[in-house]
Amino acid sequence: MKLPRTKLYISLFELVKAYFKILFGIDLKKGDKVKKFENLLENYWSRKKCFTLSTCRLALYYVLKSLKLSKDDEVLLSPIQIPDFINAISNLGLKPVFVEIDKETKCLNISDLKKKISNKTKVVLATYLTGIVPDISQIKSVCEENNIFLIEDISQSYGSESYNKKAGSFGVAAIGSLSPAKIISSVGGGFILIDDVEKINFIEKAIKSELSLPSKKTLLRICSFQIKVSIATSKYIFSFFTYYIFFILSKLFKNKFNELHHPTFKYSHKDKTIYDNPLILRKLPNEIFFHFTDLQAKIAIKTFYQNINFGLKKRQLLAKVLYENLNDETKKFIPKTITKYNENCFWHFPIILENNSIDKFQDFLMNKGYDVVGYGLKLCSDESAFASYKSNLVSADKIHKNTLFLPLFDNLNESQTVKIANDINIFFSDKR
Ligand SMILES: Cc1ncc(COP(=O)(O)O)c(C=O)c1O
Repeated sequence: MKLPRTKLYISLFELVKAYFKILFGIDLKKGDKVKKFENLLENYWSRKKCFTLSTCRLALYYVLKSLKLSKDDEVLLSPIQIPDFINAISNLGLKPVFVEIDKETKCLNISDLKKKISNKTKVVLATYLTGIVPDISQIKSVCEENNIFLIEDISQSYGSESYNKKAGSFGVAAIGSLSPAKIISSVGGGFILIDDVEKINFIEKAIKSELSLPSKKTLLRICSFQIKVSIATSKYIFSFFTYYIFFILSKLFKNKFNELHHPTFKYSHKDKTIYDNPLILRKLPNEIFFHFTDLQAKIAIKTFYQNINFGLKKRQLLAKVLYENLNDETKKFIPKTITKYNENCFWHFPIILENNSIDKFQDFLMNKGYDVVGYGLKLCSDESAFASYKSNLVSADKIHKNTLFLPLFDNLNESQTVKIANDINIFFSDKR
């Protein structure tokens, strides 16, 4: 069995269909289907209003803008982010302040969060990495005690719950990404969930006057990127071709192999797609200031029904099978929060290794047929592009450096998952 590092939740047929629809300008408007998708999310998260737009980074930008903050007000956040989150914050004259990460929940460490609060702190952005959720009410209480707005980034946690309440229904607003490979996804996209009428009116007005419809070129680039990924990771192409290319790269050209997941960027970089994510301090590119369209909404609705109604339960079941079949030696490296199977949506299943063993483990899994990787998101607190916000966060650095995501896809069955667990166990047992 050969398994790729990621899975797209949109079929190749659907992507090719979307490519031609974009080419011929079909459904490239903000109409009924966008409304239907927005209503779907409003109902699911019990929120008054959902706004869809181009990306999650733009969603963050407009939510922050609606809070009417002052220059140099501080936004406390996890350091594992996409670079344009830092740019969205700094473009608005606000200051990102990075908070240490808790190893168990992969979310904000509560004691460091309390320590970092100053009289300038106005926002806490809680990101629920890999779909694992902390006790969100604890973060919410800290925010309430200090008069701070809580924004939740639920891009990786669609369907996750904290004590029977959906992640994304705690803060003043929740934001999400519909970018390639997310549980709810499309040919790009993002959204805001929010209740406060004044903020709703502000965002409505701003979006209306500042966003336009996307260019065909922008959508075609996202779509063709996904078509390439879909082909490269499809069952037979991956098993007989892509896997062997990756295998050879990983053995003979390790730097090139690592660059697939962590590309390097020049300062003069020009984005090939809006998802390039260059590590650059910059103004958010004009290309992302666009509306979500009916074409994208139709696909997003499909992924919602497939992956929230069906896929969620299947991933939770497979996560249980995977964890319960790991031996005790392996379980030491898995956060215990994983065992709250009904609370986590299992976008990914993380394992946090000890220093210096990650390359060996990744190599071992590649030999077994599993192409696994760690975070695509960057440790922004440690990047020279963001030197003015630099922070030395020991735990976040360790988690970022030492995490890999074990194969867990809802198209696998239970016996395949048991085999994955048994293969992993060999690495951690004396048998090796
Ligand atoms: C947690 C999280 N937040 C935000 C983003 C960025 O979303 P977008 O590319 O839609 O701006 C991602 C994308 O991978 C993500 O994983």
